[in-house]
Amino acid sequence: MATSSSSSLVSLLLISSLLLASLSEAKPSGPVVSGLSWAFYQKSCPKLESIIRKQLQKVFKKDIGQAAGLLRLHFHDCFVQGCEGSVLLEGSAGGPGEQQAIPNLTLRKEGFEILNDLRARIHKECGRVVSCSDILALAARDSVVLSGGPEYDVPLGRRDGLRFATVDTTMANLPSPFDKTTAILNNFDSKNFDAKETVALSGGHSIGISHCPVIHPRLFPTVDPTMDKTFAQNLKKICPTANSNNTAVLDIRSPNVFDNKYYVDLMNRQGLFTSDQDLYTDKRTRGIVTSFAVDQKLFFDEFAKAMIKMSQLGVLTGNQGEIRANCSVRNANNENFLASVVEEAVEEPGVWAGFK
Ligand code: HEM
Repeated sequence: MATSSSSSLVSLLLISSLLLASLSEAKPSGPVVSGLSWAFYQKSCPKLESIIRKQLQKVFKKDIGQAAGLLRLHFHDCFVQGCEGSVLLEGSAGGPGEQQAIPNLTLRKEGFEILNDLRARIHKECGRVVSCSDILALAARDSVVLSGGPEYDVPLGRRDGLRFATVDTTMANLPSPFDKTTAILNNFDSKNFDAKETVALSGGHSIGISHCPVIHPRLFPTVDPTMDKTFAQNLKKICPTANSNNTAVLDIRSPNVFDNKYYVDLMNRQGLFTSDQDLYTDKRTRGIVTSFAVDQKLFFDEFAKAMIKMSQLGVLTGNQGEIRANCSVRNANNENFLASVVEEAVEEPGVWAGFK
């Protein structure tokens, strides 16, 4: 009896030390930009990450496509004015916002709703302490993980911006799918990403879809010679006209799974956009594409590192910006909504959450 209980104690200790070891391995140690930290909400909202993970599990069970939508939303947030949630702001009477810029017209509407729903759940639990830009950064990470991609930690503590960028600024910062590698590398270089990081981040196209207007120019009047013929024939059926509402998947081998098959597609001339396919045509990036196509672990490691870096672009911290009460509107324009949320937070303050 004594032997069996001491041996189970030993196994318990062994399991917990293994668990601790794996946790500390997963914990990143790299420097983060001033004002962000790996444990920012540890005291003020300890359940933050589990609320997001659990809710997104439910959302993606119904529609895994939403994972791609949230990942793209985070990218479009960070590349325009930094990761401060400005892409979430609706245009105002004063003028159109980022959401009205052409590349953002195809952001999934549901993505904005999913984020506001997450925000409401989090603020109910903890009070209005977590920014929409942090929620988006975590939601993008969970989109990757829940689609089969790498797990990584997200530094937190972003604050939400007070204004959105103009349509022109938005267009100037987001890369174009019609661009070749030189323009793509220049765009990413302006945000301090090198070629390897650029190719890794392009692997975001391992999941999700595109609409025909972006695909059609590579098919008509003549098929882009860098595109596989059978692949082109099939795409022509999906997108017979430029204004068709149809969609095609970004990664034909595994459209809903986050893996390295996107790079295998490129090696088989089955990349959907010029900006994708040219990464394999161009000598500067070809070797990187091949290295990710043959080694998924290498891709996952580089993608996770590049995402952590992207998630810190131009962040607001400390007392800059605000914590939005509604992700779609800045607080100053939203006083009634804000008042109701403050009441909600007073009724159920986060410190009592554990006693429910
Ligand atoms: C390299 C430059 C990039 C260009 C030119 C580009 C362009 C595009 C375009 C045109 C679409 C299709 C939009 C539509 O018609 O619905 C798209 C979709 C998507 N992009 Fe990118 N993108 C780039 C980089 C990235 C990065 C860095 C990420 C994330 C790390 C990303 C994630 C996605 C995702 C997940 C989708 C699918 C969205 C959905 O299914 O709703 N893209 N991208």
